[in-house]
Amino acid sequence: MVPPRRDPSGFYWGAARPSKTGEARPEKFFFGAATSSHQVEGNNYNDWSEWEHKTANSKSQMANRKNWPDYILNPQAGGPNPLQKENYISGRACDHYNRYEEDFDIAKSLGHNAHRFSIEWSRIEPEQGKFNEKEIEHYWQVIKALRKRGIEPFVTLWHWTNPLWIRDIGGWENKKTVEYFLRYAGKIIQTLGQEVKFWIPINEPTIYTGLAYVMGQFPPEKKNLFKADKVLKNFITAYKKTYLLLHKKLPGVMVGNANNIHCHLPFNKKSLLDKVAVKLLQYFRDWRNLKWTDGFEDFIGLNYYFLDTIKVVPFNGRFILFDVRNPNKWISDMGWEIYPEGIYHNLKKLKEKNLPIYITENGLADAKDEKRAKFIKNHLKWVHKAISEGVDVRGYFYWSLLDNFEWDKGFWPRFGLVEVNYKTMERKIRPSALEYKKIIEANAITE
Ligand code: BGC
Repeated sequence: MVPPRRDPSGFYWGAARPSKTGEARPEKFFFGAATSSHQVEGNNYNDWSEWEHKTANSKSQMANRKNWPDYILNPQAGGPNPLQKENYISGRACDHYNRYEEDFDIAKSLGHNAHRFSIEWSRIEPEQGKFNEKEIEHYWQVIKALRKRGIEPFVTLWHWTNPLWIRDIGGWENKKTVEYFLRYAGKIIQTLGQEVKFWIPINEPTIYTGLAYVMGQFPPEKKNLFKADKVLKNFITAYKKTYLLLHKKLPGVMVGNANNIHCHLPFNKKSLLDKVAVKLLQYFRDWRNLKWTDGFEDFIGLNYYFLDTIKVVPFNGRFILFDVRNPNKWISDMGWEIYPEGIYHNLKKLKEKNLPIYITENGLADAKDEKRAKFIKNHLKWVHKAISEGVDVRGYFYWSLLDNFEWDKGFWPRFGLVEVNYKTMERKIRPSALEYKKIIEANAITE
């Protein structure tokens, strides 16, 4: 029996798991960061890039109504601020498409042994049925660049962007998109499959559906519960079929979705309305779709960000639901309430699934890098508590490796372990990234 690795504080991350022959063996714990194609690569041409051009002006004008702190209006690293139109256009993004070698060198220097990234469907299949071999070769090089550095690739197949021809047939509202997605997935499996063990077919199906089809905040800006339901169901079907395809073609792979699970609490613990609203949100937003994928997962991907404090106010015979954001609490630049304990509650509940868990995203926008180190440490402390209580967590990916294009908000939110100067494209490692590195190297939080 190999004794589990000890660390100075007396615990180890990789919980000992029984192997097939019965003895305990320590597993490698993956520490890394995540990105997604559209947010970092630059020069993508898809449904988002078109939408950005259409909406950038109005977004910058709307932003004018808000009081922004000076460090957001005049960012240290340069780059657009929320009042500028160019903030909302992904354009060159971080030019990661051309600089991935440099970026992976940084990840390696920070001690990362895994990296999550996504493949851009619109690059692979810019026209229906026409696959671009040059782009496939690009991602082959990306995967090889990770492997060369001893970094395990976790590959997402779909992270919120569609080729234009998919948008034109109605996107994920159309059942045919499931078939087309499967054909694209098949192509990737056939060409890149042998170098990838960990697969994430769909990123956060519920968040995309909610923002694009319920709140009308993402393209195609719809507010229609019926359509939202259809879209979510299509995602789940696509996910399950991809799961089966992956296992048919690549024995031994590990497949799971990345699920965004919030932590919801009632504003008033004694209010029945607040409590019922929390239960409904937990069910519809977080847990319902996880039941639908039962039996089709080798691991669970958990994306966890913040606490939602829910208050319900009756008004004119209707109920209005508020997510109360308290500026006096510990919050990120985007006003999200930082609540590390929430990750523990989600992990404990996910234990019911009896599967390995990877934290596929956890992070915050913090331009001044004042909160990030503490954010990471505190979340990892709660992750460790869950591990020591028997939850099988096997990896943690901070969101994100680099500052990047934060969807409808644009460039101003700074999520990166590494600061990006959007004018010069210069990368600068933030102090918090070095604190994270210390944790990785010690395999523990040692203070
Ligand atoms: C998404 C990322 C996004 C992050 C921060 C996640 O829900 O997967 O693409 O940048 O949240 O908002």
